[in-house]
Amino acid sequence: MYTGLRDEELVQRIRELKEKKNAIILAHYYQNEEIQDIADYLGDSFGLSQKVTSTDADIIVFCGVKFMAETAAILSPGKEVLIPDPTAGCSLADTVNVEELRRMKREYPDYCVVTYVNSTAAVKAESDVCCTSSNALKIVEAVDSDKILFVPDRNIGMFVTRQTQKEVVVWDGYCKTHFLPDIDDVKRVREMYPGAPLLVHPECRPEISALADFTGSTAAIIRYVRESDFNTFIIGTEEGIMYQLKKENTDRRFYPLIPDMICHDMKKITLEKVLYSLENNEYRIEIEEETREKAYKALQKMMELAG
Ligand code: 13P
Repeated sequence: MYTGLRDEELVQRIRELKEKKNAIILAHYYQNEEIQDIADYLGDSFGLSQKVTSTDADIIVFCGVKFMAETAAILSPGKEVLIPDPTAGCSLADTVNVEELRRMKREYPDYCVVTYVNSTAAVKAESDVCCTSSNALKIVEAVDSDKILFVPDRNIGMFVTRQTQKEVVVWDGYCKTHFLPDIDDVKRVREMYPGAPLLVHPECRPEISALADFTGSTAAIIRYVRESDFNTFIIGTEEGIMYQLKKENTDRRFYPLIPDMICHDMKKITLEKVLYSLENNEYRIEIEEETREKAYKALQKMMELAG
C-alpha cells in the first residue's frame, strides 16, 4: 500500500483529503508518534468522547482501538466514523460479552451497572451508565444507587472501591498491557530514580496504584506533570504517552516503569492506513440502531453526571 511514498507525502495527502471531505482525525495518547502528530485532536477516552459531540466534521477518522471508534459512532449518529484498522481490538473489552453480563445482572438484580468505556457497544447497551478512567469514582458516587456492578476492569473497580462507601461488585477483566508491571518493578525504578514521582494509570494492578504517587487517566497524568515542580518522572502506562510528555516538557526527564508497556493494537494504526481510510471511506463503524440507542443512553448519562 502506497509503496515508495515518504511520510511527508503521506501526511500531505492526508491533509488534502481531510480538507476536501470535511474530516477530522481524533487520536488517543497511545497512538504511534506520527499519528499523534497528524491528529486534529489528541486526548484521553473522555476528552475524545467530548470532542466527538462538539465537532462539525462530516467524517471522523478515529485513531485508537475499536471500542473508542464505536463510542464515537454511538455518540454521533449523523456522522461517518472510520477506523483505519478494524482489527485494532482491546483485550479488556473482550473480557465481557452480553450473555455473561446478563447472567451477572440476574445474580445482582438491584445493582446499578457502571461500565467502563473499554467495552463493546452491545455491553454498553446492557449498562445503566458508562465511565472512563478520568471519572469512574465520580460516576459511582453520583449514581442513584448504593450497589454497583462495575464492568469490566477489575483494577479500576478496585481503585474505586477503595475510595467509596458504596458496595461494589467488580467484574474480573483486566488490560494485558497494564497488568505487566509488578511490585519488583516499582522497587527497581524507585532505586534507579530516587525522589521521582511514580505516575500510573488506574488499569494497573491495585498494589501498583497503592505504591504510586499519583493514579489517573492519561490526560490526568499529562496535567499532573504540567502542574508539578519535579524534573524527573516515572510513568506507568502505555508508552505512547511518553511522546506527548517529552514533546511538552523538553527540559524534563521521563522513564517508563517497565520498558515494554506497549498496546500492540493501538500501534496498528499507521499513516498508510489513515490515508487509505480517508481515500476509501473505510472502515466504517456500523452499529445496529437499537443497540446504539441503548448504548447512547449509558454514555449520555456519563456525560451528564461527569459534568
Ligand atoms: P484513558 O481513559 O486514560 O484514555 O485510558 C484509556 C485506555 O484504554 C487505557 O488503557
